Amino acid sequence: MTSTFAVDLEKTSRTANVGIVLLFLLFGAAGIRYSFYFHFFTVAFFFLILLNLHWRYGQRTHTLLANFGFLAQTRYIVESIGPEFRQYLFASDTEERPFSRVERAEVYRKAKGIDSSEAFGTLLDFGDKELKLRHSFYPADKDDLDAFDVAVGAARGLDTTYHVRRPIMISAMSYGALGQNAVRSLARGAKLAGTVMNTGEGGYPKYHLMEGCDLTFQMGTAKFGVRTEDGHLDESKLAALAALDQIKMVEIKLSQGAKPGKGGLLPKEKVTDEIAELRGVRLGHDVISPAHHVECTCAASTVEFIGRIQQVSGLPTGIKFCLGRPDELRAMVQEMGRQDTFPDFITVDGGEGGTGAAPKSFMDDLGLPLFTALPLVHRILQEEGARDRLVVFAAGKLVSPGRQLKALSLGADVAYSARGFLLALGCIQALQCNRNTCPVGITTHQAHLQRGLDIEDKAQRVANYVGALHHDHVELLAAMGTTSSHRLSEKNMYLPAQTTMPSPDKELS
Ligand SMILES: Cc1cc2nc3c(=O)[nH]c(=O)nc-3n(C[C@H](O)[C@H](O)[C@H](O)COP(=O)(O)O)c2cc1C
Repeated sequence: MTSTFAVDLEKTSRTANVGIVLLFLLFGAAGIRYSFYFHFFTVAFFFLILLNLHWRYGQRTHTLLANFGFLAQTRYIVESIGPEFRQYLFASDTEERPFSRVERAEVYRKAKGIDSSEAFGTLLDFGDKELKLRHSFYPADKDDLDAFDVAVGAARGLDTTYHVRRPIMISAMSYGALGQNAVRSLARGAKLAGTVMNTGEGGYPKYHLMEGCDLTFQMGTAKFGVRTEDGHLDESKLAALAALDQIKMVEIKLSQGAKPGKGGLLPKEKVTDEIAELRGVRLGHDVISPAHHVECTCAASTVEFIGRIQQVSGLPTGIKFCLGRPDELRAMVQEMGRQDTFPDFITVDGGEGGTGAAPKSFMDDLGLPLFTALPLVHRILQEEGARDRLVVFAAGKLVSPGRQLKALSLGADVAYSARGFLLALGCIQALQCNRNTCPVGITTHQAHLQRGLDIEDKAQRVANYVGALHHDHVELLAAMGTTSSHRLSEKNMYLPAQTTMPSPDKELS
């Protein structure tokens, strides 16, 4: 559903649910009064009412059915015949944005543990304009592949060095942007899958902590959860959080792909009493974070701040940004060299990245796309002798194993996904994350919408998704004749004839 045309789902489903009861009574009365034959309809509506009760209160697998009953079933039926309709009338399976039906279907199948093999041939463009991975005449033996292992903090010799052992991690999404059932499903799924989850910038990660998974604590520009009254860092609060066993890394958010140059935004509709308390903000107001950390006004102060967080937390600590000006990044990396203070990781977020809420103009027109930014970041780090001092994480529509390996070939060490995991939870791309009305209960705090999101069932889907991505990661690496993702480089990519990789010098001139 890419349209923003707003149907009031709740009202329509209430009308449909009451409607079938009224029709049952109407046909029952007509059967008694006029003709026995009306009872065919009475019986049909009776069974429909029973089914509706089962969909709403009996089953826990389908969130939409639990929330909307009969109306949702109608949607499933229409959706199942949708491909035939669209083939002749509407959008093709590869057209929708931000994720096409083909992309979404791949995630749904992986999350449900369904075989994702397809017949006849690719539905995607496969011409000489596409960025593709190169395979080898001599595929590697899968048993010879190194286990996936990226050590974060090893360059500083930290006791707290964290080993990322899955090629995909759950990217920053706060409790606030997501409802508590979604957060707990992701966290429980992360634990099952053995991957690490980022808390997002929502303050004390109460629900993230509940399920026992490994966490990266994110500190946004407002420093929710670790700030003083006047918005500066409260070191004691950060140290207390970092001492929790589950917190493995700290990510300082400098900026985000969907709204670079702007702070986080949580619309007032989503600020509940609990969220106001966890973030230390007022009810009834949009929560708008500052555009930058008060401590970070230039390269020198930013690097000093990174060093301070490393010291206070004692954990692997990195920065997240969307690249705008490569010259600014080069200056910052040079400053890292001068101060001999390097973050343990850098998270590069593509301008195409997702968000719970952002101004449209920021989403549409600011920030470099991930596949442009990654090679620039990689080369600047190499040229400044910093590439071995840190690891690089990447985010930006990396929902499929192919795109993840392209990111790894272009300079990343591990892939991050946010929306891939929302799709795994059952997101139908309704584009209502900012309105507290998410029909599948993911980005809402309304209890009746979250009711259908069964934590146990969705956690398993999250784990299935990670497992399937890891499986395909190994399969693709072997086909590329490579035994470790550490050995990937641009040489493993096919670049369209007229494409040259972005160069920092060209960008700077
Ligand atoms: C609902 C939602 C909430 C998000 N919240 C945060 C956040 O708190 N902090 C942050 O740095 N990024 C946040 N992001 C951005 C993601 O962490 C990620 O960088 C971006 O969406 C790119 O990944 P994707 O294309 O797989 O979604 C959020 C994204 C979504 C969809």
